[in-house]
Amino acid sequence: MHHPIFVTGGAGFIGSNFILDWFVASSSPLVNFDKLTYAGNLHNLESISKRPEYRFVHGDICDRAAVDQALREHRPRAIFHFAAESHVDRSIVSPEAFLETNIRGTFLLLEAARAYYAQLAESERQQFRFLHISTDEVYGSLNASDPAFSETTPYAPNSPYAASKAASDHLVRAYVHTYGLPAIITNCSNNYGPYQFPEKMIPLMITHALAGKSLPIYGDGSNVRDWLYVGDHCAALRLVLERGLPGETYNIGGRNERSNRSVVEAICTLLDELRPNSAHAPHAKLISYVKDRPGHDRRYAINADKLERKLGWRARENFESGLRKTVQWYLEHPAWVEDVTSGAYQQWMQDNYQTRGAACEA
Ligand code: NAD
Ligand code: DAU
Repeated sequence: MHHPIFVTGGAGFIGSNFILDWFVASSSPLVNFDKLTYAGNLHNLESISKRPEYRFVHGDICDRAAVDQALREHRPRAIFHFAAESHVDRSIVSPEAFLETNIRGTFLLLEAARAYYAQLAESERQQFRFLHISTDEVYGSLNASDPAFSETTPYAPNSPYAASKAASDHLVRAYVHTYGLPAIITNCSNNYGPYQFPEKMIPLMITHALAGKSLPIYGDGSNVRDWLYVGDHCAALRLVLERGLPGETYNIGGRNERSNRSVVEAICTLLDELRPNSAHAPHAKLISYVKDRPGHDRRYAINADKLERKLGWRARENFESGLRKTVQWYLEHPAWVEDVTSGAYQQWMQDNYQTRGAACEA
């Protein structure tokens, strides 16, 4: 019997893509430990939930006893730590949950992992890995002519979210150096793809355009993000588990820098093509420019040379192919969208957009 891998936050956007892809590539067991916040959705995992190799544990990484119990019971060979509060705008409106889950939760998970690792047999210790999934936002913001972020770029987080992720990265680093925990940090750029909660930019614009609602671009729309298709990210993480070296950091990015304006325009063009008879076409007429995000980082770009050179990773999707797949997925899953955009989502839309001068109904 193989020891499982232990995934925190597996009911979220990247975590659920990771689990679905995991069972395409492998029949090795996996435990999903998730608190099911507003961002966690077990419907994403329905297609694999009955597999004998899959287990779900409803738990909070801030609950040390629950994490200890789950590690004791399942005896994982690796931990993939995805669980976090992940939305920058929410961290600006209410930062406290970000400090709690991203900093204190990661600390408690590291403590649990340290105790668990200490009692493993030598052969199990050799194999054990702690993968910490982090973000390019820890590196701050780039000007147009700056080189892309590399693994040695100094940390300069600008939002409460980014600061909380930077703190968690530093804790992971300290556990490698102080306790010899075989941890690896990955810092990736903006992900997009199926199952992304529609408070993030790409799914928000797709779902709004389909419903004929306004498309609220912050500021002048010239901020740049480096888009990574979620399936490429998940493939990179599997490779890091197999071949990554403990104590190392790997940057993961798709080399797809785009301004927000051009991303929204590309979504509108795709919808015009795929829904030519829509009453809302041409969809670009729904675009509106709204009050900017406070402290809005100008540009992110990831240099993924190390991952490509040392581990042989290559992104399979370019932005055009990945965006087309993503738009098609949202077109084919109206019930999923309907389900996640009811209730608490409506409140968030009011909280975030009513002060931006946007006629942006949920
Ligand atoms: P998400 O917000 O979609 O999902 C987060 C998941 O974590 C949810 O299932 C939620 O229920 C769970 N969770 C939250 N608090 C928890 C707690 N205290 N205990 C247990 N589970 C908890 O996030 P995502 O977009 O899938 O991001 C996953 C990870 O990747 C995060 O660590 C994020 O910082 C990082 N990341 C995301 C992106 C991106 O573009 N989405 C880019 C870079 C890095
Ligand atoms: O860079 C990696 C990060 O990418 C991750 O660490 C975060 O978890 C993830 O949420 C994402 O952060 P961003 O702030 O870049 O993503 P978001 O989708 O919120 O916004 C993308 C860009 O689009 C950003 O420049 C802000 C802009 N935007 C966003 C929203 C929600 C708009 O113009 N209008 C909007 O309504």
